Amino acid sequence: MKAIICEQFGPVSDLRFVERDSTAVGAGDVRIAVTACGVNFVDGLFVQGKYQIKPPVPFVPGMEVVGRVVEIGSDVTTRAINDRVFVNVGLGGYVSELVVGEARTVLLSDSVTDGQAATFTQSYLTGWFALCERAQVQSGQSLLVLGAGGGVGLAAVDIGSSLGMRVIAVASTEEKRQLALSRGAEAVIDSTTEDVKERAKELGGGSVDVLYDPVGGDLGTTCLRALGDNGAYLVIGFVGGIPNLPANQILLRNRRVIGVDWGGWALRNGERNEELTAQVLKEITAGRLNPVEPVAYPLAEAARALTDLEERQVAGKAILVP
Ligand SMILES: NC(=O)c1ccc[n+]([C@@H]2O[C@H](COP(=O)([O-])OP(=O)(O)OC[C@H]3O[C@@H](n4cnc5c(N)ncnc54)[C@H](OP(=O)(O)O)[C@@H]3O)[C@@H](O)[C@H]2O)c1
Repeated sequence: MKAIICEQFGPVSDLRFVERDSTAVGAGDVRIAVTACGVNFVDGLFVQGKYQIKPPVPFVPGMEVVGRVVEIGSDVTTRAINDRVFVNVGLGGYVSELVVGEARTVLLSDSVTDGQAATFTQSYLTGWFALCERAQVQSGQSLLVLGAGGGVGLAAVDIGSSLGMRVIAVASTEEKRQLALSRGAEAVIDSTTEDVKERAKELGGGSVDVLYDPVGGDLGTTCLRALGDNGAYLVIGFVGGIPNLPANQILLRNRRVIGVDWGGWALRNGERNEELTAQVLKEITAGRLNPVEPVAYPLAEAARALTDLEERQVAGKAILVP
């Protein structure tokens, strides 16, 4: 089997593409021939040793795996050869084959593509958890999404519009803005030429109700000021740096800052996360949510995929294909 290995923390260009011995299939296991693995911004943070959790090295990055069952253990009862499944693995997904317990696999309907299945957990579960569980948003509210052409942002656009929110999407390129419009954004803002805070206030009719922020940095700090009375700032990620949110601006208009740690919550609430996964997958299968088809890179080119993400070159999501 083939794998991408991080031997020590460092630049993503140090990742190695290697041949490894296959793992034996245990009684309750299935072997999956991987057809796609999602690439996430956070994978690059893991490799560089910049994530809050530092796995022991060496390790294989990659969290979202899709493939076909090609071998089953003697005690397996719920899976059969050729079943198409996805697995949320935490780490270890940048591989050509994977051996896991059958209970960890989720059967996929034909209406969900490999690309969608390999890219929805990190982005859509975060978005659903943030908007529905943490902020408890309402239909008709306005939602300002930063980084709206990236993985997590685009999912928030899709979910927000499916919930009846009026979505304003912020992105740096025409391609990313078009993707956001295709997923239901009512309006877009070009972050390279427009005053994002002022334009968002204008488009929101004076202010916005909810701010979804995977970017942070100065943009996040500035956009806090676009929130109206009781407005909610959802802290999602820091690709542009950790924002210094001024407490006086939070006090004004009774604004709320809401932390979103879907990954940590999912680890502590396995059963509820499984329900959430099933619920989101049902929305996708029914076509009420519509994850974009990702850009595909060969498995051997994982470093290039991660570099493109870091350099903001990817519109939507990316996958590795063994
Ligand atoms: N809280 C949670 O539970 C949770 C779960 C999953 C992911 N996250 C976090 O969410 C963040 C976004 O992840 P993602 O997978 O959506 O990443 P992504 O696909 O790379 O998208 C990030 C977007 O942010 C924008 N951006 C602005 N400044 C940037 C910079 N300096 N470097 C890179 N991008 C920049 C880019 O859009 P423009 O070019 O349009 O500016 C880019 O499209 C990450 O920090 C990740 O760790 C959090």
